[in-house]
Amino acid sequence: MTLSSFQGIAVLGAVSAIALVVFAGRANIAGGERAASAPTTLLAAAASAPAATPTAPVSFYESNFERRPSPAALTALGRVVFSDTALSASGRMSCASCHDPAHAYGPTDGRAVRLGGVDGKTPGVRAVPSLRYQQDALPFTEHYMETDGNDSADQGPAGGRGWDGRASSAHEQAALPLLSPFEMANGTIDAAIARLRASPSATLFRATFGPHVLDDPALAWSGLLWALEVFQQSPEDFYPYSSKYDAFLRGKAALDAREQRGLALFDDPARGNCAVCHVSGIRHGAFPQFTDHGFVALGVPRNASVPANRDPAYRDLGLCGPLRTDLADRSEYCGLFKTPTLRNVAMRKVFFHNGAFHSLDDVVAFYAERDTRPSKFYPRDPSGRVVKYDDLPAAFAGNVNVEPPFGGAAGARPALSAGERADIVAFLRTLTDGWQAPAASAPRR
Ligand code: HEC
Ligand code: HEC
Repeated sequence: MTLSSFQGIAVLGAVSAIALVVFAGRANIAGGERAASAPTTLLAAAASAPAATPTAPVSFYESNFERRPSPAALTALGRVVFSDTALSASGRMSCASCHDPAHAYGPTDGRAVRLGGVDGKTPGVRAVPSLRYQQDALPFTEHYMETDGNDSADQGPAGGRGWDGRASSAHEQAALPLLSPFEMANGTIDAAIARLRASPSATLFRATFGPHVLDDPALAWSGLLWALEVFQQSPEDFYPYSSKYDAFLRGKAALDAREQRGLALFDDPARGNCAVCHVSGIRHGAFPQFTDHGFVALGVPRNASVPANRDPAYRDLGLCGPLRTDLADRSEYCGLFKTPTLRNVAMRKVFFHNGAFHSLDDVVAFYAERDTRPSKFYPRDPSGRVVKYDDLPAAFAGNVNVEPPFGGAAGARPALSAGERADIVAFLRTLTDGWQAPAASAPRR
């Protein structure tokens, strides 16, 4: 088929040839799942010299590729493989199926978990996070030291990728869905590369790394993860800072009265106190990501619509397992999940690690009323008593955060009134990328 004949041409042309890859335009990030514009026209390609047999690279980045691709070429390749469904066992699933470019690389619908796997019917266990604004996430550490002037305090566990931070980089992370039995389900690296060899991405893949790259699964795997990682660092796709709030920070837009009240409550340590975790201000000159990448237990209610939860013994405890295994004996970490960014959060229809909530109003009500109106969120036991933190074994209840806006006795006045909660939600809606200033009054003819 075309792949092998292409390779044949490349080998024949090895004496003298120039690789010239023309990219037919850039991906339209607003265009949905299959938006990646195919880098199509391959005018000529060849190995520059009789290739030495490639061997597995020592480090991800110390490559033995025949060609050393530029960041732009890696980004273009990453964009294509991100949307290539041929890289999945079902043939129907790509990264973009779950992380939709038109939804800030988050989920399109309100399902708590996605179906994937070989049959396309195997459910995942957690909600799909947005992939935007992760560019400054450090590898996971148990002791994040924040240095603010003279102050340096241990902030506890922070960083990593995934709700439990178990992948240390986007490179490492990309391996998980490609192999996971409930996502793209390739099972092994060899199987993934066999699919890549037969995929629409193969031609561009060879053009990027050299004509023999797909003959060596270890080398090809490393190139695949590298391209996905570099693509996820592309500013216009992954951190455009184009929301109304960014325009406000630049002094190019004003928040309306409601949004301003919402921001004030969001920042006020005695009221919303949201910014203590979801950082909202400019720090060290950088625009905020609305997360400090820290881990906190909020006691989010169990979600019966997650299929894994049909087994009453199944508990997703975040940092202490079961998906993550290295901290299984650290009871103080049970129930802690990573603080997600709130940028583009208004595009989501599913919230928290288990997708237990479906609207921002309900999420903010949970913050304000978890402790003052627990019966709104948690079930009752046979004796009629409300079971708080029903997704966390009682032994770990002490891990749950009780700082404002949490706290207050059952029946007491919540930290935020309904009107104040609505103000906060109005503010959260200013965090959606792609904001356009309202057109100045049209010139009259
Ligand atoms: C079936 C749906 C699905 C597919 C397909 C999928 N992901 Fe994900 N992705 C998820 C879920 C769910 C999580 C959260 C996982 C966890 O916390 O255990 C996630 C997490 C991530 C994260 C970490 C984000 C964070 O907040 O730290 C990255 C990065 C990522 N995925 C990249 C990819 C890439 C690259 C691909 C394609 C190779 C891909 N994903 C395919 C569902 C999916
Ligand atoms: C002590 C740290 C902390 C504070 C304070 C805090 N959050 Fe969070 N927030 C988190 C963590 C951790 C999660 C994820 C919890 C989980 O999934 O189990 C989260 C999740 C969310 C989500 C869901 C996002 C998504 O992608 O699913 C929203 C919305 C949110 N917070 C808004 C707020 C608002 C509004 C406030 C203030 C009223 C606030 N948070 C205060 C730590 C915090």
